[in-house]
Amino acid sequence: MKIAMVGAGYVGLVTGVCLADFGHDVVCVDNDRTKIEALRRGEIPIYEPGLAELVKANVAAGRLVFSDDLAAAARAAEVIFVAVGTPSRRGDGHADLRYVHAVARDIAASVEGFTVVVTKSTVPVGTGDEVAAIIAAANPEADVAVVSNPEFLREGAAIEDFKRPDRIVVGLEDERARAVMNEVYRPLYLNQAPLMFTGRRTAELIKYAANAFLAMKVTFINEIADLCERTGADAQQVARGIGLDKRIGPKFLHAGPGFGGSCFPKDTLALVKIGQDNESPMRLVETTIAINDQRKRAMSRRVVAACGGEVRGKTIGVLGLTFKPNTDDMRDAPSIDIIRGLLDRGAQVVAYDPQGMDAARSVIEGIAYAESAYAVAEGADALVLITEWNEFRSLDLDRLKAAMQVPVFVDLRNVYRPEEMARNGFHYVGIGRPA
Ligand code: UGA
Repeated sequence: MKIAMVGAGYVGLVTGVCLADFGHDVVCVDNDRTKIEALRRGEIPIYEPGLAELVKANVAAGRLVFSDDLAAAARAAEVIFVAVGTPSRRGDGHADLRYVHAVARDIAASVEGFTVVVTKSTVPVGTGDEVAAIIAAANPEADVAVVSNPEFLREGAAIEDFKRPDRIVVGLEDERARAVMNEVYRPLYLNQAPLMFTGRRTAELIKYAANAFLAMKVTFINEIADLCERTGADAQQVARGIGLDKRIGPKFLHAGPGFGGSCFPKDTLALVKIGQDNESPMRLVETTIAINDQRKRAMSRRVVAACGGEVRGKTIGVLGLTFKPNTDDMRDAPSIDIIRGLLDRGAQVVAYDPQGMDAARSVIEGIAYAESAYAVAEGADALVLITEWNEFRSLDLDRLKAAMQVPVFVDLRNVYRPEEMARNGFHYVGIGRPA
């Protein structure tokens, strides 16, 4: 099929290259010329495992091209995916649909023949109707079916998630789109991924409901972890004990410093707004957001407590800055609040992250950066592990301890075992474990 992917950001790029890898002809369009030129040179603007190799292979095979000419791409395409950003609108938390609307107008001006327009961006319920109305108003001749096809990719595992999805959700109102979407995802039948067809508004809501539920699940185990600390129970064992119940399931029960990233914070906020607009309050989600915000700040107090109640003039080493491993994404990363809390209390902070330091420089001011975990440990009064990158899982503990001024280790991801750390002479603080 001939596919145009509008928006060469995270979602657009991953989806575009994976569709090309299925054998479709894909043009990834973006109005940022510099980005398109860089992509043509084979430079990938984001860090995502496997993405660069897949882009290279599909460009070489002639199935994937990059362009800033939306009109030409829209004219030639049978299917146009819209994967432009929907950031939180400043001030009110609503999803900002400016880019989606603008693309709808551009598409209307150029489409030829029956075309399926698919929103991939996470958009509030009813946006598909708006897109259809914008296209119809701008070009009454345009023959389009607007479909909602939300993405469920995780950063750091996006290509794997694309190729082996738990499900694909397609929301449509025009039956002609069903055969087209079946064809787009045909290669996935081999993996027996269920393709679920729903109404358009239902598909739009499934996306928000899924992310909000996952954010709630993480927040639930985080609160249980706090309770475990007070009661002498072990949160990891509680998580396993409840997760073995198939109705609950074992995933997303890893207690930590709170959720971050480009999706959960933005989507939970947007769902609350959708609820308010429709006089159907999302109270569990509202509470989840509040608990998570407090939690990120509480993590810096945990570090202060581990340092004996005072960090003024002390050097705190931070391991991991990105909101999770295998990404360079710093958006809403818990590290930002934790580090600010430490700086406010007069600490000096030295940090290392395998991929996130460039992005971190523009969001966190007033800290120093080091080139490895051991360099961070040099002279530190405490180490805080914030992001569970693989390279932090098997650190040489003797070397680390020898480099530190005081061997305090605050492990916000429970990467290490308390007995092991005690044996190695560390004062160790984890999450949700008996002291
Ligand atoms: C999330 C969803 O998992 C994807 O399905 C969805 O497509 C995506 O948002 C999106 O809407 O685009 P992502 O933000 O990449 O993906 O990251 P997750 O792996 O879901 O992690 C989110 C946050 O929860 C991270 O801060 C992570 O550290 C935290 N988390 C996750 C925990 O603290 N504990 C867990 O057990 C799981």
